[in-house]
Amino acid sequence: MFIDTHCHLSLEDYDDIDQVIDENRNAGIEKMIISGCTKGSIIESLDFSHKYDNVYVTIGFHPSEASFTTDDDLVFLETKLQEKKVIGIGEIGLDYHYGKENILQQKNLFMKQLELAERYHLPVVIHSRDATRDTIDILKKFPDVIGDIHCFSGSVETAKEYISMGYYLGIGGVVTFKNSNLYQVVSAVGLDHILLETDSPYLTPEPYRGKKNSSKYIPFIAQKISNILDVSLDEVSKKTLFNTNSLFDLKDNL
Ligand code: NI
Repeated sequence: MFIDTHCHLSLEDYDDIDQVIDENRNAGIEKMIISGCTKGSIIESLDFSHKYDNVYVTIGFHPSEASFTTDDDLVFLETKLQEKKVIGIGEIGLDYHYGKENILQQKNLFMKQLELAERYHLPVVIHSRDATRDTIDILKKFPDVIGDIHCFSGSVETAKEYISMGYYLGIGGVVTFKNSNLYQVVSAVGLDHILLETDSPYLTPEPYRGKKNSSKYIPFIAQKISNILDVSLDEVSKKTLFNTNSLFDLKDNL
C-alpha cells in the first residue's frame, strides 16, 4: 500500500477521472493527496475530494500566482481551509526560476499563507525552485509550522537543514533518473524523513519517463528507494505510510 502525497488531478490533463482513480487503487495506491494551487484547481480538487473517498487535498496559491492573487482570494482560501478533507496548505513557496521581478509579491503571498498554517495548525507543502536560502529563512520565521518539501532536489546539506526544522522531503520520479543527485540524498537521510509523491501529471518515473504521469507509478519510485537503501519494498511502504500519517491528518470515513 502507498499514498501519493502530492499530485495534480484535473479534467484538463485526464479525460476519465473515474478510470484514473480505479487504476490507482489497482496499483495499491490507497490514498491520494491532490494539490490545488490556483483558484480554479482549488475548486476542482475540492470537488474530487467530495466525490472520491480516498482523495484528500492541500490547497494554497502557488508562487506563480503571486502577481494576481488578491486579498479576496486569501479570504476564499481561508474559508475553504475549514473543509474536512483539506489536510494542508500548498503548494506554496518561492520560484525564482523564471526571474525575480515579483520577489516581494512572492514572499508576501508565501508568508500570508504560512500565517494561515500557523493559525489553523495545518502542515504546509512547499514549492521551492532556485530559492533555497530565502525559503529556509522564511520558514524559520514560523517555527511552529511543519510540512513537506515537495519534489526535493537539493543537496544533502540542504536536506539535513530542512529535516532539522521538522520537515519531510517529498521524493518523486526524479529519483529514478540517471542524472539525478537524489541517490546521495536518499542514502544520507534514509527512510525516516521521506514521503512518496508523483507530482503527476509531471515528472514521470522511469521506465515511463516522457509519458503522462499518474499516482499508479508510485511503486516505481518506492522500488528505486528500496534499491538505494537496500531494504525491502514492504519496508519502504510501511515507513513512508507512517511518515505520511505523522504529518497529515488523513481521517478515514469522512
Ligand atoms: Ni506540484
